[in-house]
Amino acid sequence: MIHAVERPEAHTPTHCTPEQYAAMYRASVDTPDAFWLDQARRLDWVKAPTIGGQWSYDPVAIAWFADGQLNLCHNAVDRHLPTHADTTALIFEPDDPAGESRSLTYGQLHAEVVRMANALKSLGVTRGERVTIYMPMILEGVVAMLACARLGAVHSVVFGGFSPEALAGRIEDCGSRFVVTADEGLRGGKHIPLKANVDAALAHPGTDVAGVLVIPHTGGDIAMQEGRDHWLADLASDADCPCEVMNAEDPLFILYTSGSTGKPKGVLHTTGGYGVWTATTFHYIFDYQPGEVFWCTADIGWVTGHSYVVYGPLMNAATAVVFEGVPNYPDHGRFWDVVDKHGVNIIYTAPTAIRALMREGDAHVTSRSRASLRLLGSVGEPINPEAWRWYFDVVGEGRCPIIDTWWQTETGGCMITTLPGAHDMKPGSAGLPFFGIRPQLVDNEGAVLEGATEGNLTITHSWPGQARTIYGDHDRFGQTYFSTYTGKYFTGDGCKRDEDGYYWITGRVDDVINVSGHRMGTAEVESALVLHARVAEAAVVGYPHDIKGQGIYCYVTLNAGEEGTDALLAELKAHVRKEIGPIATPDVIHFTDGLPKTRSGKIMRRILRKIAENDFGSLGDTSTLADPGLVDRLIDGRQNR
Ligand code: PRX
Repeated sequence: MIHAVERPEAHTPTHCTPEQYAAMYRASVDTPDAFWLDQARRLDWVKAPTIGGQWSYDPVAIAWFADGQLNLCHNAVDRHLPTHADTTALIFEPDDPAGESRSLTYGQLHAEVVRMANALKSLGVTRGERVTIYMPMILEGVVAMLACARLGAVHSVVFGGFSPEALAGRIEDCGSRFVVTADEGLRGGKHIPLKANVDAALAHPGTDVAGVLVIPHTGGDIAMQEGRDHWLADLASDADCPCEVMNAEDPLFILYTSGSTGKPKGVLHTTGGYGVWTATTFHYIFDYQPGEVFWCTADIGWVTGHSYVVYGPLMNAATAVVFEGVPNYPDHGRFWDVVDKHGVNIIYTAPTAIRALMREGDAHVTSRSRASLRLLGSVGEPINPEAWRWYFDVVGEGRCPIIDTWWQTETGGCMITTLPGAHDMKPGSAGLPFFGIRPQLVDNEGAVLEGATEGNLTITHSWPGQARTIYGDHDRFGQTYFSTYTGKYFTGDGCKRDEDGYYWITGRVDDVINVSGHRMGTAEVESALVLHARVAEAAVVGYPHDIKGQGIYCYVTLNAGEEGTDALLAELKAHVRKEIGPIATPDVIHFTDGLPKTRSGKIMRRILRKIAENDFGSLGDTSTLADPGLVDRLIDGRQNR
């Protein structure tokens, strides 16, 4: 039995009391249009919307604020100039703690965004063009996103840890003709050859890129291709560059994410609804107070970085930290050094980082002050109660509430979480639905489950921040999210609900795994493995991993005559890194002479998952397997590693 933890007394400032939450939640589900049109007034509209949600899940068509017009760069930057020109917008903390930390006021951020927007314009970027951003976590990454939004161009940020192959696939899929990159990135003291990776990606025949804008960062040696590649300084100008007036439903960005089948999907978010969702969730969930310093440790290559490094904080005129480095460099106290150096009040990070730091002992934490911390956030994967306790007791010294925010790339912003001033917390539970969110648990046949129960998590009604489509493939959008349970958005997550109505996410129920808070399609890793000339077949599953949450477990069968040597094992790991990127590196490669298949040839993944989990007692019915003896050989193979 897990007991609720009351809200710590020390947390006084709040935008939402328990009574306010109850009344606002009721209003948000009873009269959603009125509720969201009211929240929409947080933004500065060129033309204020008069229409709320217009949506159907069967067939799938979603719009919010359809008659409104606005620009999100204006909302994140320009609108603050009369009141906050001298307020710090962004603080840059470099990978190397001895390096120069730099900050930009809203006034300076405006100047930088205009310079970058003019540079993009001179390359030929116009409204509606897709621009790929492949950057380290430096201020110019944020500036590039805002510059695109200013011009009405659609940004597609690709995480700097993805390989040239993965980058090429994403450039090709959205027909992006422009790339913004840096010479190199730095992470944990290592140089990441971003520009060289772009060069390799653009050598792929499917890409057709007209212009590459290069930002100098490390000064590393790079090649510049005449006519295609340009340094920012050569194209930037301070000329007036007005914000394009966008319709609420014009696309703002595409972000690729993994699914259970096929190649990554370009999740598309639009302007008005995403803007309202990120501005509103940031305000209530982080309870941000003027003058505070907010730090979301996510990379802008993930949705968390989009919504809570860039749009959410900046639309609220907040001060946000942009951190280039990693939690364990130069030592395991780096996070708390950054907190002390910049006076961080609110930190928002992932359970994988918390677990990794917890393992290194309390001294790295207690040797730093952390007196500025007021609120602790978690996102990306279920947080185990032990890590929750450590975060609460050791990092926050029992005085900072924890918000465990459940959401997804497709949801645009937080969906289920406690609110710091309104709710008690339960370690391991995300908590309660945010305004307008109507979760419903269903069984595998789609029957609705009531009360305290466990099932598959669906959301029955649209919310402004919801993704509108998969770029270029609306059918796949419908198929992926709305066909499993007709008329409902299916999240892909399993979930429990307790007697207090708190939600406990249990993890993905599809063929997606969550590795260190990064979403990975098992099908993607399998496709990469079978590209190798010596591999015949591969099946990939997740298994529990102490630090990463889930690790990548690969069953591999080799072509006739090949042997599963240590050298081949290392080669296959390197091969997957090259095809996808380091985050996809297999943890375990299990060579086997076959995969468990039904007589009709379907791989029985349930069995593979159980064996990878070392759970041999509940393999279920194996009588339909084409080769029943295989299971014993697989178990032997598992036990011998
Ligand atoms: O399984 C859930 C898990 O992360 C998935 C979404 O991944 P992604 O689109 O990459 O977005 C991550 C950051 C928003 C979800 O389907 N997840 C995310 N947050 C939580 C979580 N699982 C449990 N608790 C959370 N707080």
